[in-house]
Amino acid sequence: MEEKSNKSHILVLPFPAQGHINPMVQFSKKLASKGVNKVTLVTIDSISKNMPKESSSINIESIPHDDESPPQNIDKFLEWFHVLVSKNLTKIVEKLSDSVYPVKVLVFDSISTLVIDLAHKLGLKGAAFFTQSCSLSAIYYHMDLESTKVSLDGSDVSLPSLPLLAKEDLPSFIYNTDLYPALRGLVFNQNINFKKADWLFFNTFNALEKEVVDWIRPRYPIKTIGPTIPSMYLDKRLKDDKEYGLSLFKPNSETCMKWLDSKEIGSVVYVSFGSLASLDEQQMEELALGLIMSKCYFLWVVRATEENKLPEEFMSKLSEKGLMVNWCPQLDVLAHRAIGCFFTHSGWNSTLEALSLGVPMVTMPQWSDQPTNAKFISDVWQTGVRVKVGENGVVNRDEIASSIREVMEEEKGIMLKENAMKWKKLAKEAVDEGGSSDKNIEEFLSNL
Ligand code: UDX
Repeated sequence: MEEKSNKSHILVLPFPAQGHINPMVQFSKKLASKGVNKVTLVTIDSISKNMPKESSSINIESIPHDDESPPQNIDKFLEWFHVLVSKNLTKIVEKLSDSVYPVKVLVFDSISTLVIDLAHKLGLKGAAFFTQSCSLSAIYYHMDLESTKVSLDGSDVSLPSLPLLAKEDLPSFIYNTDLYPALRGLVFNQNINFKKADWLFFNTFNALEKEVVDWIRPRYPIKTIGPTIPSMYLDKRLKDDKEYGLSLFKPNSETCMKWLDSKEIGSVVYVSFGSLASLDEQQMEELALGLIMSKCYFLWVVRATEENKLPEEFMSKLSEKGLMVNWCPQLDVLAHRAIGCFFTHSGWNSTLEALSLGVPMVTMPQWSDQPTNAKFISDVWQTGVRVKVGENGVVNRDEIASSIREVMEEEKGIMLKENAMKWKKLAKEAVDEGGSSDKNIEEFLSNL
């Protein structure tokens, strides 16, 4: 029989939000596929109870909570979750280490910085998993506001290995100190990971963020491991697990796919603002009427909680050109031949998914990392156009319609599509056997 200590067991602890859980579930599956004996995803009861138990290569360990429903407000939820983690993590590690496979590494969400000391105390290695871009983390690193490394007078900011960044390209937390102060605190606190974590995993790939990865690599133990997208989406010939991440919303899959099947190649705009962003009523009206004005077919994901903001005028015209659903299987949609462009809030997962599937974008960033992602999409990777915000802070319907037409119908759209296809190829190369992300995962495992 093999010695207990030769077996490897990795715990993965994502922050339980859609944009964090998807890449970390995918990463867990990747570790399992690479021969790690046991990979356990640790998440809260209210999520784990909806996870399919069978046919998964990863184990689930639940953090119990008595409250029926966790707080809705982001700041309150963060606090609630982290209290729960600090109360339960030691117990969980001890319980799981009793098994045949002793726990060796804790892969934790980079915003859950409180667990790194705990992991070390328990004799585990700690790997911080960043669910946002590497460039974004570099901005936080250089602009650590507590030590005011960079003065903020509103002029362009020049930071090592990054393009010149205007005020509107910076993450919203730099200037907006009022919105979700607890989240803002954790976001800056992520810098602790650079000093304390044994590894820094980024859901990105070397070619995409070469300059910044090259800047970080000699200084910190960075490993780019993305994109964490099932390989069959990157290469249609492959037939692996189609299940993507873990959906916290119920997708209207059949309706979406049937509707897309009835449309011509490249004729549909896919519109989504992810799992958290919320537009105000005026902006929702401009977006709705801009989509109609574009005269393109559109598939729009409007979460159930946002639906009541839609104007009557839009609802009466919707069926002529559009389909609206509360949630969709986004990767299947982006991979569908009918999709011509993605009108997006440019959350990091959506950005990476569009780049990896070769879909050009119109970006309308809302908050957090999205402005920075939008800057890279339009100016660095050149796979999309960014809408212009009016003086009243609203993007008007004409701007929305003309940006869509620019990508769907004009010369510029052809160039954006060509670039998107180039990134698609590079994303696949990174995760293919021997590619940069694949090698990084192998290296990490060989050092365990
Ligand atoms: C947010 C941030 O903006 C993101 O950058 C950060 O890393 C995590 O928090 P979110 O706003 O939800 O996340 O956007 P995004 O990062 O794009 O993640 C959304 C995920 O939900 C994607 O994986 C996307 O495929 C999925 N999705 C979205 C669906 O499966 N169906 C939908 O209808 C919409």
